[in-house]
Amino acid sequence: MEVLNKYITIKAHINGAPHESDFELKTVTFPISVESGSNDVVVKSLYLSIDPYQINRMKSYSSSQNTISFAVGIVPGEAIDAFGVGRVVASGHPGFEKGDLVSGMISWGEYSIVKGTSMLNKLDPMGFPLSYHVGVLAFSGLTAYAGFFELCKPKKGEKVFVSAASGSVGNRLANMQSCLAATLSAALGANKRYFPDGIDIYFDNVGAEMLEAAVANMNMFGRVAACGVISEYTDAAKRAAPNMIDVVYKRITIRGFLAADHMNLFADFSSATADHLHKGRIHVLEDISQCVESIPAAFVGLFRCDNVGKKIVQVMDE
Ligand SMILES: NC(=O)c1ccc[n+]([C@@H]2O[C@H](COP(=O)([O-])OP(=O)(O)OC[C@H]3O[C@@H](n4cnc5c(N)ncnc54)[C@H](OP(=O)(O)O)[C@@H]3O)[C@@H](O)[C@H]2O)c1
Repeated sequence: MEVLNKYITIKAHINGAPHESDFELKTVTFPISVESGSNDVVVKSLYLSIDPYQINRMKSYSSSQNTISFAVGIVPGEAIDAFGVGRVVASGHPGFEKGDLVSGMISWGEYSIVKGTSMLNKLDPMGFPLSYHVGVLAFSGLTAYAGFFELCKPKKGEKVFVSAASGSVGNRLANMQSCLAATLSAALGANKRYFPDGIDIYFDNVGAEMLEAAVANMNMFGRVAACGVISEYTDAAKRAAPNMIDVVYKRITIRGFLAADHMNLFADFSSATADHLHKGRIHVLEDISQCVESIPAAFVGLFRCDNVGKKIVQVMDE
């Protein structure tokens, strides 16, 4: 059986702020079958995670592209792989059957052929909406969890500043902090007005002058979890120059991390988050667009601060 598969690609490399006109919708004939003897799995896309890091893959060059497999450069005209939730529609792999719900690396399209099943896992929705499994129960949530607990190691009474708090990772952190309201306090803004006692922990999603301001207001032995620098992704001239005298004399630690390096925490993260969700301790903020055609606007909107909460595209009906 064959279908018409719609997918989104870039027309050419994107080296500044992305525009919807940089993207192209392609339609191709697509087989809903696998060759006999292959391990391929064909997946129908249901929900896709829309993530800022993809812009660094779309550049003609970014130092990020040589660091980890999911950050490799995107070739104009080709399908763009992305984290999502889907349903298996054909499988040559003994571990997957038609009808299985899966999460993993699929693509910015309606259907994908997944060749390495290490990139795909069977999904137990645990009674939650499928969209949660591309956001709060997936990498956005894990990023906040690993960055906060593994890198920042918060102690009772410490002052925590989170940038881009209305976004996906930031909002998850704001939720975690409200779960820890007795021990932590947070506020928006990296200056003395909001932090008269200084900042102990800065969870940086933004980079540039926000990082400079946070470092200038940090306390002795402050920790910065460098999660992302979204304001620098589309404008390299904004690169941060924190005062290194502060870093040295206040013995501040600035440490970059990738959630993918903390998969060992996934089981703990998942059960803790599910428990918080069941008990109503986490308020999930999602911003969901419909259909493959909406992907370019959804992605471009990340860099215009259009989204409130996790940006998701529901590609097809369940
Ligand atoms: N290290 C990791 O493993 C990892 C994993 C996931 C994400 N990240 C990083 O975490 C950061 C947030 O990602 P996300 O998935 O949570 O995206 P997101 O917050 O859902 O979407 C982007 C948000 O970033 C803020 N923003 C956009 N352009 C900005 C600019 N020029 N200056 C200041 N703020 C800007 C806006 O939030 P406001 O409206 O609140 O300002 C916007 O809503 C990104 O830097 C991303 O690359 C890192």
